[in-house]
Amino acid sequence: MCGIVGAIAERNISNVLLEGLKRLEYRGYDSAGLTVIRDGQLHRERQVGKVQALVDAVNNDAENFKGNIGIAHTRWATHGEPAQHNAHPHVSGKVAVVHNGIVENYKPLKDELIKKGYTFTSQTDTEVVAHLIAEAYKDTKDLLKAVELIVPRLHGAFALGVVHVDNPDELITVRLGSPLVIGVGIGENFIASDQLALLPVTNRFMYLEEGDIAMVKRDSIEVFADGQPVERAITELDAKHHNADKGEFKHYMLKEIYEQPDAVARTLAMGIDATDLKADFLASHEAELAKVKHIQVLACGTSYHAGMVAKYWFESLTKLPCSVEVASEFRYRNPVVVDDTLVVCLSQSGETADTLSALRETQRRAKSGEIKGMTTLSICNVATSSLVRETEIFIPTLAGVEVGVASTKAFTTQLAALMLLVLKVGKVQHRIDSDVLSSIVTDMHQLKGYLDRSLALDQSIANLSQMFEAKKSTLFLGRGMQFPIALEGALKLKEISYIHAEGYAAGELKHGPLALVDKDMPIVVLAPRDSMLDKLKANMQEVHARHGELFVFASENSELESDERMHVIHVPEVCEYLAPIVYSIPIQFLSYHVAVMRGTDVDQPRNLAKSVTVE
Ligand code: F6R
Repeated sequence: MCGIVGAIAERNISNVLLEGLKRLEYRGYDSAGLTVIRDGQLHRERQVGKVQALVDAVNNDAENFKGNIGIAHTRWATHGEPAQHNAHPHVSGKVAVVHNGIVENYKPLKDELIKKGYTFTSQTDTEVVAHLIAEAYKDTKDLLKAVELIVPRLHGAFALGVVHVDNPDELITVRLGSPLVIGVGIGENFIASDQLALLPVTNRFMYLEEGDIAMVKRDSIEVFADGQPVERAITELDAKHHNADKGEFKHYMLKEIYEQPDAVARTLAMGIDATDLKADFLASHEAELAKVKHIQVLACGTSYHAGMVAKYWFESLTKLPCSVEVASEFRYRNPVVVDDTLVVCLSQSGETADTLSALRETQRRAKSGEIKGMTTLSICNVATSSLVRETEIFIPTLAGVEVGVASTKAFTTQLAALMLLVLKVGKVQHRIDSDVLSSIVTDMHQLKGYLDRSLALDQSIANLSQMFEAKKSTLFLGRGMQFPIALEGALKLKEISYIHAEGYAAGELKHGPLALVDKDMPIVVLAPRDSMLDKLKANMQEVHARHGELFVFASENSELESDERMHVIHVPEVCEYLAPIVYSIPIQFLSYHVAVMRGTDVDQPRNLAKSVTVE
């Protein structure tokens, strides 16, 4: 989604802005732009396509882009096609604005501004904001006051960066529903949608609250909420978990696949010692967890698939009912949430608008007394995100920064964190047998080894992936805890290789999708040796009989071997509960290699964004 970077300093800031935009590329965008104030003028450049096109254009006119204050933006089109005239910053006279999010009521505001004589050069909602500020400034002659006056008129969720030619020592920023962080330097300060953009210039950050408006100067930051000055703490980040370098890998996605054994082990280590849960794991929340009668998982996309696995775990290990729903549906269907529900929100970014609004809807209903005894918990990869700040309990996934749009290590670490939660709730409520718990914990200690061995499948899956290159469609099948992994396999393949793919519970095959099966349809099957294997083998026979080509990821002891129309890749055998984590690796490799072969943009697939901050 859109990315904002802004800077005010004694030095020339155009390279800080451009480097910041490059570091936000992972969010997904279709055009980029920047403006700096120099010699009492706004110098603006905007380009459709990659940030590099903007870098080249700015470098061609480097003298004019030397400035001490500026704002920059990557745009992910919502209102108006990806085009230069729609790219940010948008300018009204001496005001320039960059914007992330949506101004829902832009149409009546635009009509009002047209009546006042303003002309519009774009189809965006953002241009309305620039004109409104310019109009308010006519009276206030004070940029902060002008912004404070117009913000209440804007409906929606958004973040803004604003500069004005007559105020070259003031950078104004607003956070209202979209992420925005202030980077604190020495004699210079910065703003960005994500701290990642600013790591080359600072590791000290101030996280704004929703509704905050900040006046950022070179040597001061003042934050206002409802017009009153407020204090916001400065957090120092440990840079070692924020290394966003590709290293020797060709793509971030590949690097992130390879980071999983360590990331999963690190996440599990938060909660386990030799054969049991650590005594201090979620110790301060035992009272809330002890009264939970129902679990409601809310998430989107890949995170939703992690939630689906957790449903199998919760219900089979603790016998507590668990519902899982995509946040965008839950939010609007007026769902029943029973008393004493633990609402578990899963998100890599912690800024996903759908997940946040579903959470807020449950909180609104709890506050009104409609739901009693509700507790909220987030499992998230960004400790400073909105989701974490708005939930009562937080379990971090220690994946480190994930840059590839296709989520990999964030997914498997979510699974690791979810299993810790299942065990904790089971233990606190005496719902899980201590031998079962200790056997799962023992297996968790071996998981890193199994994941390392799964990485060794890289080359054989790369060889297999050639057979998918020219295909139009693929089915992924799994049963039980592997069904969500089949869904995840299909999502991964479609999002980065653009091959249509569907995930199915294998038992559903004969209820419809079998009609698609012929010799041209590759069918990927997840076949660990578990309680469902015999049933799954019968489903595979149904495919075989219709000349479908099977690609089977199976346990070493599954007694499945390759034949003419069945390609078997052996995956390390692991206990049934942890198998979804291990089987995630082959499906990630498969989608990765198919995408590389098809020449798609693996790390930034078309039309997608890493942090989906609009509903
Ligand atoms: C797919 C993918 C997305 C995200 C979804 C939710 O690879 O990454 O489906 O899982 O957009 O994002 P988060 O987890 O940040 O809430």
